[in-house]
Amino acid sequence: MTTERQLGWRMLFLILTVLPCCRSLEVTIPQSNYEVARGAAITLTCSFVPAVDDLTTLLLSWEANPDVAGEPMKAVASYFYNRPVNVAPDYEGRAFLEVDMTTRTSTLRLTKVTMQDNRSYQCSVNIFNDDEGTLAAVTSLLVLVAPSAPICIIKGTTEYFHNITLSCKSEEGSPTPTYDWTSYSVTNMPRQLPPKATQKDGVLSLINITRDTSGFFICKSENRIGFASCNLTLTVEPPSMGTASTAIIVAVVLAGVVVVGILVYCFCCRKKGKEDQYAEGSPGEIEFHDKEGAEASTMQYKDDKSTSEKKQVDRYEDKDVVPQTTQSLGAPAPKFDDDQNSNVSGKERYGGKGSDIESQRYQNDQHDRF
Ligand SMILES: *[C@@H]1O[C@H](CO)[C@@H](O)[C@H](O)[C@H]1NC(C)=O
Ligand SMILES: *[C@@H]1O[C@H](CO)[C@@H](O)[C@H](O)[C@H]1NC(C)=O
Ligand SMILES: *[C@@H]1O[C@H](CO)[C@@H](O)[C@H](O)[C@H]1NC(C)=O
Ligand SMILES: *[C@@H]1O[C@H](CO)[C@@H](O)[C@H](O)[C@H]1NC(C)=O
Repeated sequence: MTTERQLGWRMLFLILTVLPCCRSLEVTIPQSNYEVARGAAITLTCSFVPAVDDLTTLLLSWEANPDVAGEPMKAVASYFYNRPVNVAPDYEGRAFLEVDMTTRTSTLRLTKVTMQDNRSYQCSVNIFNDDEGTLAAVTSLLVLVAPSAPICIIKGTTEYFHNITLSCKSEEGSPTPTYDWTSYSVTNMPRQLPPKATQKDGVLSLINITRDTSGFFICKSENRIGFASCNLTLTVEPPSMGTASTAIIVAVVLAGVVVVGILVYCFCCRKKGKEDQYAEGSPGEIEFHDKEGAEASTMQYKDDKSTSEKKQVDRYEDKDVVPQTTQSLGAPAPKFDDDQNSNVSGKERYGGKGSDIESQRYQNDQHDRF
């Protein structure tokens, strides 16, 4: 029958293709990866099929992958035909190598496994005159460690409208833990994370936080063999008194500078007025208006001693609008010394955020009160 003949050809083909493999050395590790809990023991098994009968030159060795890729492999243990097993110093007392020449297998037993043992291992066989085929095989060892209690930190200022991050990290854990943040309201009710929140590798980013963002944030660190979590309490507060008090201090200092400026200015002007005999006399009234009024107080300085009929009002107005100094003079004005002018107009005002320095607008209007 044709099918039987086909089968015969197939058998022959199979034998012809398989045979060449058995004329060279074959080293295999049946299990491509092993897992072991830290502190426990594990046995790795390697098989070899030599092409020659004389195994008196056989050298079998186990090596571990280096810490840094590219460096030479780390020796673990080796066996030379009919000699005692040689264990590398690093593995002394906790690596046990056996080679069975009849079953042609080797076992490497590692005890008291540490995180350092979490790597790949290679079993290689050298036989004189048998250097073709697969001379080595590789397997990997995964050391399992449950995640340690994560360390969770809030980074940033927990005040309204700030952006903050909550970070979560377990010192230990193998395989590498994954992190997941969940949130509970102040009343401990489960809730969605804020809409703009993003999390990646245990870092939760919260944008423009408000009072509503306050609550409990739980991070669960988890891998295949266990989990651990942390619980952060987030309290978002109104902008702190820190900025406000800074603004107050700045305002007070500025007020002092202004007062000194005015005193100097008046002193000089009066002196000048006496010398030059100006018709207008000395300035009657000087007012300072802070239209913002929020953090800087309105200041008034009055010179009531003036008996002059024409009262002159010098007005210095703070305006947020133009960052430049404009000076407009109405009716003929007393001639001011440049230095005196700059004493006053050079006054700087700190803006609402307590950091912006804006030039103020200087206005000198003369008013006839009658
Ligand atoms: C917060 O983040 C948003 C978007 O990334 C950004 O536009 C904004 O300027 C940030 N705010 C602060 C106070 O950093
Ligand atoms: C252990 O090795 C595996 C890969 O085999 C890796 O995924 C894991 O992160 C390693 N564990 C540690 C703690 O590096
Ligand atoms: C932050 O939120 C407040 C009110 O929720 C809003 O007025 C403000 O524009 C937001 N700021 C940003 C940068 O999104
Ligand atoms: C987080 O901690 C708060 C108090 O510190 C507690 O009321 C709440 O139940 C905790 N949440 C979880 C999920 O453990």
